[in-house]
Parts: sequence; C-alpha cells; structure tokens
Amino acid sequence: MSKISPSEITPEHIYLSRRELLKSMGILTGGAALLAACNGNPPPMTLEPGPQGDPAADPVDPSASSNVDELGDPLNTFDDITNYNNYYEFTTDKIDVARLAEGYPISPWEIQVGGLVHNPTTFSLDDLRKFEIEERIYRMRCVEAWSMVIPWMGFPLSKMLAQVEPKAEAKYVRFETIHDTKGMPGFTKYPFYQWPYVEGLRMDEAMHDLTLISTGLYGKELLPQNGAPARLVVPWKYGFKSIKSIVKIDLVTEMPILLWMNAAPNEYGFYANVNPEVDHPRWSQGTERRIGELGRRETLMFNGYADEVAHLYSGMDLSINF
Ligand code: MTE
Repeated sequence: MSKISPSEITPEHIYLSRRELLKSMGILTGGAALLAACNGNPPPMTLEPGPQGDPAADPVDPSASSNVDELGDPLNTFDDITNYNNYYEFTTDKIDVARLAEGYPISPWEIQVGGLVHNPTTFSLDDLRKFEIEERIYRMRCVEAWSMVIPWMGFPLSKMLAQVEPKAEAKYVRFETIHDTKGMPGFTKYPFYQWPYVEGLRMDEAMHDLTLISTGLYGKELLPQNGAPARLVVPWKYGFKSIKSIVKIDLVTEMPILLWMNAAPNEYGFYANVNPEVDHPRWSQGTERRIGELGRRETLMFNGYADEVAHLYSGMDLSINF
C-alpha cells in the first residue's frame, strides 16, 4: 500500500475549534499535530464475499476485466482502495478506517426509497443482489487532490429509481448514510458535524447512466470501509458526493442541504463537479496525486467524463462550484 500522511476535508473552522479543544485538554504538544492522525450489456455477475483486507493481495488483480481504465491509466490495487479511505463515521484518519470498520455488521440491511415516488420501496440485501451487476472502471478524484482508478461493481441508480416510479415533481435526490451512534465511533469523536452524512444529486444527474450504486469492487462485495453494502459512485464529481452505506433515498422538490454544505457553506456547494479551473478555498484543483504514483497529474474537467456529462450543465456558471 502507498504510504501517505493522512489529511482531511474537514473545514478549517472545525479543524481549528478541534485544535483548541485538544489544546485545552493538553493533548496537543507544541507544534506537534496529533491532529495529523485525524487529519469519482455485460452478463449478470454475482459477487463473492469480500476478504477482510488481504495484505498480500496480488497487485495485478485478475478479478477486474482490465488492468487499465479507458484512458489507459492503471487500476489502483485492491490494497490501496481498501486501506486509504475517507469515512468520517469511523475516523478522519484514512489509514485507520479499515481497522475500525473491520467486521462492521452490514446484514441485515435495508435501503428505504421514498419521497415523491408512486411506489415507495424498501430494498433488502437480497433485493440489491437481484439487480444485474456490472463492472464500471471509474476514476475517483477527492477534493483533497488525490485520486484512484477503481473497478467498481454495481448497477445504475436509474434502475433502482425506475422501480419506485418518480413523480413529475421530483427535482432532487437526497441520500442518507446509516446513523449508528453506537457502532461507529466518529459520531462521538466529531459531534460538531450535523450527522447523518447526507448527499444529493439533481434528478438528471441521478438518472445519468454513469451514476452507480456500487455493491462491490474487484469482483467482490464491498468491504465496510468502502461503504458496504451499497454506496453511491458519481465519477465526475468530487469523491465526497459518493456517499457510503446508504440507508435512505428520498426524491424531493427542494435542493437538499448536505453535510458538507452545513459544515462549511463557504467551502462546499451542491454540485462539486471536478473542475481544474476552480480551486477549493484550501486546495488548488489543477493537479492531483494518483495514489501509488510519484509526481502529479493534470486534473481533467469533469474528471475526464466531459463528453458524457458536460451537457447537463449547459448554461450554468461553472465557476461557482463550491
Ligand atoms: N460517505 C460517508 N458516509 N462518510 C464519509 O466520510 N467520505 C467521502 C465519500 N463518502 C465519506 C463518504 C469522501 S470525502 C470520499 S473521497 C470518498 O467517500 C472516499 O471513498 P473511499 O474511501 O471508498 O475511497
């Protein structure tokens, strides 16, 4: 696995207030940041149960259909993808998420899909397994300016939404992660976030064929650290839009207020499309570091998916992204 020091998408005012808190508790010594530790027509497939992070995993995993994405970029290893994670419900320390999430119970599980729909439906794990599973090799670009190439397994969100029959008034989709205050230590450690983790998409973004509900990667079921049993993947948007471990999906008329918009309205907006021209207040977005590589790469508009998605935003001022 690539060794990278942890960093975080935590807004600065929250970071600073936590610093003050830790200082007052005598946990921060001098400039030494203890906070450093806190600191996108195949045949039907079935997924094998995921191994619990095999450290000796073969770097060229034979369970993906290709070793490269459509741009020729090599896939990240299973080890990279499952050991360098952002999942604040467990911890803000990317390296420690896998350990803390190991064995997290994901069965039984339900995803309630409702709101402005004709046919509200609760999907069980078995229901999720009935969807035709496809492999989608996508780049994932985090707003912190690192990226990976991941062979996701899953099905288009549009197929799930078709089953619930959206009403014409539905304009947005709101997603919610499990809010398990007992089983996930992040709720106690970071009480300043307005939990649960909430994300959202405009209806046309949600219905786009690239938008995936992922239930696996590298031919195996998702591990908890990657958002088991089912998470969103929207490859042309910054990674924080790809909400993990979904329990609720609602179709609504108003643009939902998202966890990150609540935490730092001056830093995070609703759309968050990957855009090398628009810097985040704290991270320049022109280049990125591909996990496992030295040096930096140019960041691509819409993370390289402009041909597929740019039309969704025609007429919009793309300089207002956060
Ligand atoms: N979903 C939840 N519920 N909690 C999180 O902290 N982090 C987001 C996103 N989804 C996050 C989440 C961020 S910032 C990123 S970059 C991706 O998940 C990381 O996904 P990965 O850990 O599978 O690479």
